[in-house]
Amino acid sequence: MKISVRTRGESFEFDCAAGEKILHAGLRAGIGLPYECGSGTCGTCKAEVGKGEIDEGWLDAPGRAYVKSEKSEFLMCQATALGDCTIGVRANVARLAGDIPVPEAMTGRITKVEGLTHDVCRVAITIDGPVSFNAGQFMLVGTAAVEGRRAYSMADYRTSTDRLAFVIKQVPEGGFTDWLFAEDRTGAELSLFGPLGVATYAPSLPNDLVCIAGGSGLAPMLSILDHAIEAGHFEAYEGDLFFGVRTERDIYLLDHLKAYAGRDPERLRVTVVLSDAAPTAELVAAHPGLRFDEGFVHEAAMRRMTGRWDGVMAYLAGPPPMVDATLRALVMEARLTPSAIRYDKFS
Ligand SMILES: Cc1cc2nc3c(=O)[nH]c(=O)nc-3n(C[C@H](O)[C@H](O)[C@H](O)COP(=O)(O)OP(=O)(O)OC[C@H]3O[C@@H](n4cnc5c(N)ncnc54)[C@H](O)[C@@H]3O)c2cc1C
Ligand code: FES
Repeated sequence: MKISVRTRGESFEFDCAAGEKILHAGLRAGIGLPYECGSGTCGTCKAEVGKGEIDEGWLDAPGRAYVKSEKSEFLMCQATALGDCTIGVRANVARLAGDIPVPEAMTGRITKVEGLTHDVCRVAITIDGPVSFNAGQFMLVGTAAVEGRRAYSMADYRTSTDRLAFVIKQVPEGGFTDWLFAEDRTGAELSLFGPLGVATYAPSLPNDLVCIAGGSGLAPMLSILDHAIEAGHFEAYEGDLFFGVRTERDIYLLDHLKAYAGRDPERLRVTVVLSDAAPTAELVAAHPGLRFDEGFVHEAAMRRMTGRWDGVMAYLAGPPPMVDATLRALVMEARLTPSAIRYDKFS
């Protein structure tokens, strides 16, 4: 099937397979259609159908709150085409730049599931061929047992790899995470699409890095910091990681965090921030390389970064309220411009 896309200035055309999401077909063809979550919640991928018929897919998608059905609007990340279609997209569309990996569909198998806390695990997946991704990107991951795919950020950095790692937090009554945490899923087959996302790190960035993560939002920061360390970024620039969780029992990968902080504590600082309980004296004493703070993670970041925001690139990831509060603080208090902030809301 052919999809013709009309945008403000240009038009594009790409092939779409039966049952393939229109967004996936366009991105796979190297066309930078608009999206953010890739999974039906944000509304960024909305388009308008002109000629032809589509199947809108998941009708309860929260992102449908942003579409006007009377204007034939739909979500490209959920819809499939039923024949040749012409669609209109209001947002700017351009061909994907050369440094952005073109996403593709792949299958994978869970090779290891490792519990990190009472509700967070690290999942290793082997995929059927090598993939390259930019640090900070994510994959859409699905199993035949659960309807739809969920977005998960790569939690390390590798080039041209068939091994992917994710850090996944169980969400109460969540479809995919309930399935994942119900029993040992080692060996389970998964379908994936990616890599996706623009909240990425590139070694050419001439910036100090500030990473602010809530809960499983640490995952993309691990990828970003791993790549930045490998690229020697902290020989020229500084870095700060703020990792916010509720209580001590929610902290994970402490040894990994200590390894970051142990490299050069004056250049790469790691602060663990507890929102629901003050860090105990025992916790602080047991981890001398790490800094600890209390309150919301964005408040701690604002306190500790006072006077140091010049030339910073800020990365944020975590629950939407945490990302929204941090965005407000970065713009209103730290006075960062939007181009100095990259974020993923884990909606
Ligand atoms: C860019 C991005 C990166 C993320 N990275 C991580 C990460 O690294 N680690 C992590 O723990 N979480 C991450 N998340 C959150 C993750 O994608 C899930 O929302 C979360 O794990 C809860 O999934 P669930 O299936 O358990 O919950 P549910 O409430 O069942 O589903 C959550 C989401 O799945 C999708 N969905 C649900 N039902 C359907 C359906 N019928 N058809 C199609 N789609 C459906 C929707 O997007 C929904 O919001 C990320 C989210 C985004 C947007
Ligand atoms: S990208 Fe489609 S709703 Fe977010």
